[in-house]
Amino acid sequence: MPARSLLPQLSMAQPSPERVPSPAEQEWAGPEALCPGWLEDEAPDGDVPGDSGDPDGATHAFERLQSALCQEGLPPTLDCSAEPRTGFGPLDMTVCILGSPTAFLPVLLEGGTRCPGAMVLCLSPTWASRVPSESCPGAWSLLLSQGVSFKVGGHSALETFVPPRRANYVTGTFAPWDPEGGWAAELARDLDCPTGGSAPLARRLEDLLVTRWVLAARAKLPVPPTLAFVLEARGDLPAELEVPGVRLVRLQDPQGQDSLVREEVGAFLGGTAMEPYSQVMVRPAGWRWRGTGTHSTHRKEEGAAVAQAVCARLRGLMEEDSVLLEAMVPTARLPLPPPRSPAPRLPVALRICTLLCRSWGDRPQLCQVACAVGRAESPVRHGAALPQGLDSSLQQWGVVAPSQRQALATRLRKATEAAMAALLAAEAELSPQQRGGTRARTDILGVDFLLACVDDALELVALATNSQRCLETCVLAEAMGRAVGEPAGDLPRLLAEAMLHRAQCHLVEGKDILLIGAGGVSKSFVWEAAREYGLKIHLVESDPEHFAAGLVQTFLPYDSREHRRDEEHAERVLELVRSRGLRPHACLSYWDDCVVLAALVCQGLGLRGCSPAAVRVAKQKSRTHQHLQRCRRGRPPPAAFAVPCRRLQSHGDVERAAGAVPFPAVAKLEFGAGGVGVRLVEDAGQCHAHAARLWRDLRDDADHPGIGLGWGNAMLLMEYVPGTEHDVDLVVFDGRLVGAWVSDNGPTRVPAFLETAACLPSCLPADRQAQLVRAALQCCRACGLRDGVFNVELKLGPGGPRLLEINPRMGGFYLRDWIREVYGPDLLLAAVLVALGVPPVLPARPAPRAHLAGVMCLGSEHGAALAGGGGMEALRELQGRGLVRLNRLFEEVAGDGEYEEPLLSVACDGATRAEACVRLLGLCQALGIDSPRYPVEHFLSHFK
Ligand SMILES: Nc1ncnc2c1ncn2[C@@H]1O[C@H](COP(=O)(O)OP(=O)(O)O)[C@@H](O)[C@H]1O
Ligand SMILES: [Mg+2]
Repeated sequence: MPARSLLPQLSMAQPSPERVPSPAEQEWAGPEALCPGWLEDEAPDGDVPGDSGDPDGATHAFERLQSALCQEGLPPTLDCSAEPRTGFGPLDMTVCILGSPTAFLPVLLEGGTRCPGAMVLCLSPTWASRVPSESCPGAWSLLLSQGVSFKVGGHSALETFVPPRRANYVTGTFAPWDPEGGWAAELARDLDCPTGGSAPLARRLEDLLVTRWVLAARAKLPVPPTLAFVLEARGDLPAELEVPGVRLVRLQDPQGQDSLVREEVGAFLGGTAMEPYSQVMVRPAGWRWRGTGTHSTHRKEEGAAVAQAVCARLRGLMEEDSVLLEAMVPTARLPLPPPRSPAPRLPVALRICTLLCRSWGDRPQLCQVACAVGRAESPVRHGAALPQGLDSSLQQWGVVAPSQRQALATRLRKATEAAMAALLAAEAELSPQQRGGTRARTDILGVDFLLACVDDALELVALATNSQRCLETCVLAEAMGRAVGEPAGDLPRLLAEAMLHRAQCHLVEGKDILLIGAGGVSKSFVWEAAREYGLKIHLVESDPEHFAAGLVQTFLPYDSREHRRDEEHAERVLELVRSRGLRPHACLSYWDDCVVLAALVCQGLGLRGCSPAAVRVAKQKSRTHQHLQRCRRGRPPPAAFAVPCRRLQSHGDVERAAGAVPFPAVAKLEFGAGGVGVRLVEDAGQCHAHAARLWRDLRDDADHPGIGLGWGNAMLLMEYVPGTEHDVDLVVFDGRLVGAWVSDNGPTRVPAFLETAACLPSCLPADRQAQLVRAALQCCRACGLRDGVFNVELKLGPGGPRLLEINPRMGGFYLRDWIREVYGPDLLLAAVLVALGVPPVLPARPAPRAHLAGVMCLGSEHGAALAGGGGMEALRELQGRGLVRLNRLFEEVAGDGEYEEPLLSVACDGATRAEACVRLLGLCQALGIDSPRYPVEHFLSHFK
């Protein structure tokens, strides 16, 4: 443990909230009361914050951390501060947690294991400083000169950083009443990096009136009937709240309008919304009042007393405050089994506390639920009782059927996620100043609910939101579960992933990316994504007229279509890059034709990427398999996934190949893409015929751009692999798997092999998916593909997985879009991170948010229905309403007859795969995509 002298003295005046509740008020704590630090042990005698030797509380905070670590059975923090850590650069991740040492401890521990050293706890304002931001004028960068950083396995170290390290993500305890809240909020104000929360946002979340309005108006959740009085001047609310259950009255003179108040109170108490209730509560609301519990309760009939209580409260009304009169919503009472003993039963109330985070793709995700039970006379306080689970609480409440409890849990999840979505949307409309900085957003949110009975049905009533209390309750529930052998919950993992992900997004901002090959319309998403991530794209592209030219930082037209000369092209590209004075941080390609060139350029620039030799092996299909066949180490060896195949350069090769490859076989282009020119052949004769046609029709790139003809039109003959077809999209860093997603393909249309349908997540059970992922990873590694995002196509037959081909680039067509939609992470961002040399943080336990099923549309089959029949317009309109996902592969019909490529992928989502398939089929039938020649029902029937 560090000596006191190591913890520098407080240098900043600690701003305190304007109004601290009096001890009497605290004692009288009612519904929202929080006992600060209730998670901690009693402080040892004499060693309390405010002790003269510890003016900023850092020593005390450090001791609280030690005690919390000790309780977890973890080693104490190692004091390494004497030897400063140096060398933190622009690619090092720093997630900084300001303030309380305990609220985020499980998140710090989890983050420390996921990204050792990246999570840093700052316990004192003197450990950090603010400097004007270089990247965002007017904003500040937060620099850490000291902190407790977390490593694998719960090890932590007190470290000093010389020069100070820059935070990529900042969050902390910003609650107005928190002892650390003041300085933490001050340090986090107006930063240039993503900031999870701020003082103004925390105050908003603690303002009952504002949040109740958002919950009721935007999330359409039931809230307790509420009558609110505010000052006329109050600007953060609309003039009229047109929300069921919430009425707003603006007062010019809070002291002189007693008759108006009496009138409003009378109308409210006698109104229909109040009919089911008998008790009301009067309380001042606004962030200053939160946690004070100041309130009075009355019976509904006592109108005069209620009005008097309201008027009394109005006397001190300030602009940020309000006075609320609301119904006391009793917890639903269900018929309980007859008592086993004659002892009286106490009436009790249930409060449901939920914690959410802004997850991948900014989607609200419920992380945990914890319930509290208390006496019914006054609302249940946070922190007054030990938390318990939702399921057992509902059971105790008399919800007997497990299916009913499950249904309630699902409803609760939907309600919480709607609540967060509404709050985030409202937040997004605030000015940077109102948010406490351009980059400040709520990333962690607590929402409390009651289980009420409305019209004889159970109803979840949203009570309030908070910035910290639900987190503390849920963290406690997690810790308690472990004591009885419950497996660790998702909470720390989800929060740590959300924070690390945001930090990584900040890391890529402003980075110079040399991109080789722009790709076609199917890659149009790249340009918008690059802008959103703040990437500076320097694009090398063969088409000098490419539409992306105006969308990038630097456009470097260079014709590399003759790929047999990639070595030479690489030299020219390097010269171009040098002559423009560019110094890219990363170089990559997602375009099949350009992967070898990109690897050569990477090598030339000394940047992270796969070796050109590895990419060449992967790019050439027969070489991939022949190479794997020689890889005989491992259990099973990579050779187990390879398939017999032979190269065909002329008709003379056909007989020899036919001797080595059994029929039926597949004849296809060595460097092909998009399934063009792939054909099932039954014998050598058919192989000759197919080769003759192909060599006649497809000679160079101009004959069919984008399918690898720049490497020539050599072919291969490959054993036909039976089984179901799958794509595995992998993210590999330094040979280590960091993410994998398996999708399924429907039947292909033989004798050509055009893809017809696909679904995500895969229908396969986890163990079969695991086989595919492992096979894909071993094949990549055996080929030397150790860094990047790869798309591996395999079939899964009775004998296990067999490789079709490795695409040493991000998955094409709809894959990036679908994976983002279903699982959250972005393959493009992952590819950029790997290329920068940063291992991407991806969900450790990917959980699908929906199911997608899609079909491919062909120009030849669907051109008429889509263009002439108005089908495309209808699809666009449905897309606008979120009812269909479209991924355009080509602007117009690509290739014809035998060489046709799909035009468009049309997909529907659903809570289950069956639902997605039914919706898709209905759509295809209505739009004429389904036909006897294109039997969509048959294609989808494979997804069972
Ligand atoms: N050996 C094989 N056995 C069975 N089907 C194959 C075989 N090779 C290719 N296919 C089918 O042809 C499709 C396209 O082949 P692939 O090698 O992936 O070429 P491309 O690079 O054009 O995508 C595959 O998705 C698969 O359906
Ligand atoms: Mg393929």
